[in-house]
Amino acid sequence: MPRGLRSELSRTEGQYSMTTSERVSSAAEAQVARLRVGDKELALPIEPATEGQSAINIAPLLKDTGLVTLDYGYANTAPTRSAITYLDGDNGILRYRGYPIEELAESTTFLEVAYLLIYGELPNAQQLAAWTDQIRHHTWIRLAYRQFFEAFPTEAHPMAVVASAVSGLSAFYPGSGNPHDAADVELATIRLLAKLPTIAAAAFRRTRSEAPVVPDDDLEYEANFLKMIFADPSKPWVTDPEAAHALRVLLILHADHEQNCSTSTVRMVGSSLANLYVSMSGGIAALWGPLHGGANQEVLEMLEAIAADGGDVAKAVRRAKDKDDPFRLMGFGHRVYKNYDPRAKIIKAAAEPLLMKMHGDDHLLRIALELEQVALSDPYFVDHKLYPNVDFYSGLIYRALGFPTEMFTVLFAMGRLPGWIAQWREMMHDPQARIGRPRQLYVGQPRRSFVPLDQR
Ligand code: ACO
Repeated sequence: MPRGLRSELSRTEGQYSMTTSERVSSAAEAQVARLRVGDKELALPIEPATEGQSAINIAPLLKDTGLVTLDYGYANTAPTRSAITYLDGDNGILRYRGYPIEELAESTTFLEVAYLLIYGELPNAQQLAAWTDQIRHHTWIRLAYRQFFEAFPTEAHPMAVVASAVSGLSAFYPGSGNPHDAADVELATIRLLAKLPTIAAAAFRRTRSEAPVVPDDDLEYEANFLKMIFADPSKPWVTDPEAAHALRVLLILHADHEQNCSTSTVRMVGSSLANLYVSMSGGIAALWGPLHGGANQEVLEMLEAIAADGGDVAKAVRRAKDKDDPFRLMGFGHRVYKNYDPRAKIIKAAAEPLLMKMHGDDHLLRIALELEQVALSDPYFVDHKLYPNVDFYSGLIYRALGFPTEMFTVLFAMGRLPGWIAQWREMMHDPQARIGRPRQLYVGQPRRSFVPLDQR
């Protein structure tokens, strides 16, 4: 909660001005921001956050002034209240439902975290057992649905297949269409968490022209996924506990990140009361882009390109700073973190021993560490507050586990799924939720008369 908040926004010729000068003594104390438009003054309520930035509620602005707000990339817009994830980008803090990410990564399972995000509290032993059982019960996919994967070319990117397949669930389970039917939503939640690893593994094996491996319900969530990805069906499967542990930590670290691009997409799709499956598919599509979840694949490709170029890290940094060069250091920078991404810190600590064990001296890790060191001491990166983000080291671990680069963003989607579901469900229970429908600042032609074809 900001103390003694004072901010000023003013516009041309003093026509618009906004002043907030409050002495914030308690969350309950009413606060307002005063906005002057011409000779009219508006008192806009400031809604307090339990932590972090409070919000000026601009809902009455259009009605009372005829003005909208312009905010590219929603950089300054809170489209919702949310009680799921707290993130403080200046201090590198991330918490799910109040619990620090470091503690959750250390002590919980992915399904426990999924439960926490979706239902708001950590499950007790009985709740966790029932929840895990339900998810195990739904891991299988129907034969007709399996054939869906065969329709895709083997060279298809697995994200394309996974996004289509998740959307396809609404065709196979048409009863799950009603966002306000609690039982439907519950079943769709379980199905999604249960089936996404099966779908992701089938998409992966399709790229290898291999038949899917059926789920093994005796295994833990992560071990079952590793088996469906890597098992040779003619040989017995033995789970590598370190690999399962690394995957578990990565899934937990990706499980939610408040109103990011893919989550906002999920909320936007769901705001029209579209069902949970297609809303998740929208999130997967948004995640795929290289500026968002697709960055983990790009990071590895960038490290490989630097290695192929003789390992010239300084050259890559030089290029990233050159405004005439579109090249960016992938895995660096974040809209919200202006400090080291706490997830990257945990992943980096996990990466070194895992890579030593699996690869010996890993040349890409060496390049990554060098790149980080050079970038963090370079004035451009320091001034722009560009630190490694979650994607910088995650790809190295995925690679050490044996995943090809095109699967990296799929793994991100598996991790993010509980967050998307939790956010979608929170929206459906929010009495103030409305269809997402932003405004625009029109800068096109004013009215003009139609010109017939022969006169143009
Ligand atoms: N390399 C070089 N310069 C960068 C980088 C980078 N990775 N990221 C940002 N900058 C610079 C920009 O050129 C800009 O400089 P300027 O103000 O001098 O013109 C400034 O930093 C601000 O950058 P924006 O693009 O305006 O910041 P925004 O908040 O819109 O974008 C983003 C954040 C997309 C993550 C950006 O930092 C980026 O492209 N990073 C690389 C891609 C990446 O790693 N994405 C994963 C993000 S984490 C996630 O989604 C899970």
